[in-house]
Amino acid sequence: MKNYPAEPYKIKVVEPIAMTTREQREAYMKKAGYNTFLLNSEEVYIDLLTDSGTTAMSDKQWAGLMIGDEAYAGSRNFAHLQEVVREYYGFKYVVPTHQGRGAENLLSTIMIKPGDYVPGNMYFTTTRAHQERNGATFTDIIIDEAHDSQIDLPFKGNIDLNKLQKLIDEVGADRIPYICLAVTVNLAGGQPVSMKNMREVKELCSKHGIKVMFDATRCVENAYFIKEREPEYKDATIREILKEMMSYADGCTMSGKKDCLVNIGGFLCINDDDLYQQASELVVLYEGMPSYGGLAGRDMEAMAIGITESVDFHYIQHRIAQCRYLAEKLEAAGVPIVKPVGGHAVFLDARAFLPHLDQEEFPAQVLAAELYIESGVRSMERGIISAGRDKVTGQNHKPKLELVRLTIPRRVYTYAHLDHVAEGVINLFKRREQIKGLNMVYEPKLLRFFTSRFEPKA
Ligand SMILES: Cc1ncc(COP(=O)(O)O)c(C=O)c1O
Repeated sequence: MKNYPAEPYKIKVVEPIAMTTREQREAYMKKAGYNTFLLNSEEVYIDLLTDSGTTAMSDKQWAGLMIGDEAYAGSRNFAHLQEVVREYYGFKYVVPTHQGRGAENLLSTIMIKPGDYVPGNMYFTTTRAHQERNGATFTDIIIDEAHDSQIDLPFKGNIDLNKLQKLIDEVGADRIPYICLAVTVNLAGGQPVSMKNMREVKELCSKHGIKVMFDATRCVENAYFIKEREPEYKDATIREILKEMMSYADGCTMSGKKDCLVNIGGFLCINDDDLYQQASELVVLYEGMPSYGGLAGRDMEAMAIGITESVDFHYIQHRIAQCRYLAEKLEAAGVPIVKPVGGHAVFLDARAFLPHLDQEEFPAQVLAAELYIESGVRSMERGIISAGRDKVTGQNHKPKLELVRLTIPRRVYTYAHLDHVAEGVINLFKRREQIKGLNMVYEPKLLRFFTSRFEPKA
């Protein structure tokens, strides 16, 4: 066993968590329609549903809440947030939003015309939904290897420049308002993008007058991987790497609920004066004044402090180490996982875990449900259910990756909690042949993974 860094924080407040029996969990899962999103959190022992908004804030952030300036306009906490965003990310303008999808809504609405194309390094659910809602077609231009769970590459989130060039040749640059470059790529398993790739994407896009917009949700995790894997950055600080990464973008959407270390919040960053003008007019309609955008002053303060804490080397080193610790235990027991391990989660490869199930029997969905019953651990499907249906044909998208995401919240769980998670997955792996598929009995039209319901196959 390798050495893993101990927690770079100590515990000041504790939150007791539910201890349940297997019989209780079977009943809870049935009631939740075999969808882990529909469980009550009080029914969950270790909650690895998401790393979104589940962060433990620091004492400084909690203290920051007390200096919230709740003025309707011109709050001092907005001024602080703006200052921090400019300093750490380097963008000219920031428009706060209630969370990342609020920023995606603004960006897609101001930049997309019906018939446009938005290329990206694999889709993200809400991001693509906003692009499509505004009339664009999302085009996946991530490198092919990203769709293979077993290929071990340092920067598996990279954009394939040939695919980008091909799309430009086919549809014309004037039908591509921007490229959406996610750092890291959530649905590929939290895989990073190299600095070199960002630089090259920016060069190619600039040549064609196409803007580069980052989905910066997990940009600090990406910066850590660059430090570790791109030799010229080994002596650079996380903060320096982050600033350089952002210099290859014209703006970004941000879900502050991840790498800004807060429970709610997000923002849109933009350098262009005219686009900022449009965003600051639109935000009034959907979120609030451009100086609060759906957030309380205290939330903006916590987010500003969170940004400064997120670039601390020891924090981010420990976070990535926790993912690797869990992965190492699973791999040692032969459990199939996505490789290499990304920055926010360990992804189980449900196809390899349950090879006897067809994709339309929802292997990842049933695996998440069974893991909860086995161990009280809540995880999430990232496969055919999350991918939804083709907007033209109505057929299921059938992604190559059929995954269960074990997402590690920031600064919340200890290595001992992760031991419990590993034990649950390994027990399930030992009895994998007994696991049967599911039938979907309720399917909502939009983002179906949140509320769809299932029943076990006979
Ligand atoms: C890569 C990525 N982009 C965007 C979002 C949307 O952010 P939010 O949940 O804050 O709306 C998420 C949330 O999980 C995400 O992981």
